[in-house]
Amino acid sequence: MAFFIPEEKIFEIKNAADIVDIISESVLLKKSGRNYVGLCPFHSEKTPSFTVNYEKQIFYCFGCGAGGNVFAYLTKKEGFTFPEAVKYVAGKYGIDIPVEKISPEKHKEISEKDSIFSINKQAMDFFKGCLLNEDNGKKALEYLKKRKISDNTIRDYHLGYAPDGWNVLLNYFAKKNVLTSMLEKAGLIIRKNKSEGFYDRFRNRIIFPIFDVNSQVIGFGGRVMDDSLPKYLNSPETIVFNKSQSLYGLNMARSECRITETVFIVEGYFDLLSLHENGIINSVATLGTAISSEHVKILRAIVGKDGKIILVYDSDDAGIKAAQRSIEIFDKGFADARILVLPSGYDPDSYLVKFGQQAFKNAVLSAQGTVSFLINSAIKKYGLSVEGKIHIVSELKNTLSSIEDNVARALYIRELSEKINIDESALHERVRETLSGITLNKYINKSDSNTISDNPDVAGYDSENSIIENRQRGTRLERQIITMMLQFSEMVPEIIKRDLLSGFTDDILKSIGNAIIDQQTLPEPNLRDAIPVFDNNEKNSIVAFLSIKDEVWDNKSCLELIKQFEYIYKRNKDTSIKKIKQAEETNDEKLLLELLRAKQIQAKNKRNSSLKALGGKTIW
Ligand code: GTP
Ligand code: MN
Repeated sequence: MAFFIPEEKIFEIKNAADIVDIISESVLLKKSGRNYVGLCPFHSEKTPSFTVNYEKQIFYCFGCGAGGNVFAYLTKKEGFTFPEAVKYVAGKYGIDIPVEKISPEKHKEISEKDSIFSINKQAMDFFKGCLLNEDNGKKALEYLKKRKISDNTIRDYHLGYAPDGWNVLLNYFAKKNVLTSMLEKAGLIIRKNKSEGFYDRFRNRIIFPIFDVNSQVIGFGGRVMDDSLPKYLNSPETIVFNKSQSLYGLNMARSECRITETVFIVEGYFDLLSLHENGIINSVATLGTAISSEHVKILRAIVGKDGKIILVYDSDDAGIKAAQRSIEIFDKGFADARILVLPSGYDPDSYLVKFGQQAFKNAVLSAQGTVSFLINSAIKKYGLSVEGKIHIVSELKNTLSSIEDNVARALYIRELSEKINIDESALHERVRETLSGITLNKYINKSDSNTISDNPDVAGYDSENSIIENRQRGTRLERQIITMMLQFSEMVPEIIKRDLLSGFTDDILKSIGNAIIDQQTLPEPNLRDAIPVFDNNEKNSIVAFLSIKDEVWDNKSCLELIKQFEYIYKRNKDTSIKKIKQAEETNDEKLLLELLRAKQIQAKNKRNSSLKALGGKTIW
């Protein structure tokens, strides 16, 4: 159920919390000067660069750039959403969160989600009933028996059968007075192309309900019982079903994954059921899509940083593709990803049915790390002739250069050098060439899109790249002014008075500045510090970076900084007025229009920054 936490409440909760206390639950912290330091839980390191500051209630890792307040820590460490983190901290410190009114649009969205969950649950029950119905489901039940699915599995996974017919489900829901518009939004029916009306999406298929981790039904998969096509049909994406964030079987697998710190990922529904049938509960299946970085994030929060992910594939080619992809999406803090390729012609299901679970467990022991797997596959493919070796190096140089961790990269280069007997330094050379090509490309691509989205997914906040960018956002003066606002809040009224933020070139820094100002004008300014709370990792990391280093501030040096900024900003403004005058004199209408428009935007920004209203955050 959704509710809403007012901004003030979020601050109250943040101020009640002790970040040192909360981080100590998962990281061993040692006092070092004014800070606490420890080994970063977000990337592998041997010497501590993860720093926690009690007074400011922030953490920042100088190694990987992760940073922020207690909520940012919990979202990153535990995989919580922002609201979940707020709730967790509130619970820990005994603070009640009041339930408040939410906006009508939000309300509509929430109630729509709730109705889709409810419709999906009813549809699941209907399909289950059909499977167990003597006449209707006989054929389907026989099919499941033939595929060695037990009664227990049928029950635990709520398998069902969608009867043959164009409107069986439609009629069922019509009797219950459920709107067709909602059934369509749930993805259960399809609008007819040529005439009025709808028809059932799933017809004459075995049904696999797909659950979220809270065991709510988010969608369905359906398989035919013969050779007709398409073999599988899945629900379309809906407001409750996102394939790149959902995994079949996760609701059943979650606690076992946590205990074993290992998860198997397979491709098919039957593969998953077979694994579970054979007691290998710590397994999940993707839903006809490739494994995504969101999947990895979800699984990592469950198996932990040192946990193991084992991707199971039924052919070398599929395995190679997945291994190549995984190097990009498994960030370096999650090094232990392995690939298990089954003997040709077998997928996990047929392998288990034929050879049994012990054979599968033995095969698991031979699962290789993704990079070693790629090296071995290339050797198998090209052989060790001179030409073969050249091919191998050229195929692997991109993979090797995309490994961000320097140590790991060097180790794999050594492995390759030993396996194909080529001088290690020559390999380093090749990888370095590729690496510099990649860096250059990144730089070139960056310059034509220097706007960074607020959306953390788009901003790619976990990549090394954006960390470096973040540390250097805006101009030096802009960064100094935000640092001053964060560390010496006495100056904030001066910033407001002089409307300094409207001169900022960097939108993110500007919005951080505005948030600091908003905070100062909260009705109850009993705040421990000036550090604002964002539901955005990028901003949290920038704020933590700028706050954590103690700098000495006094009124005089602050005023100097402000004057310096104003001088430069004013100079920019003066030149723009000068240009407008010139354009007027020379009758350059096009230029004049452009300049006036730019000025208008500037003025509008200025108004907005002084009118910023207080917002709130919605909780799920
Ligand atoms: P069985 O033949 O029942 O053992 O299925 P499988 O899981 O071995 O089949 P396969 O390897 O062909 O497919 C793996 C997964 O890809 C399935 O579980 C589906 O999620 C998806 N998939 C396969 N075929 C189709 C299809 O025709 N359409 C869609 N949308 N998905 C498919
Ligand atoms: Mn199969």
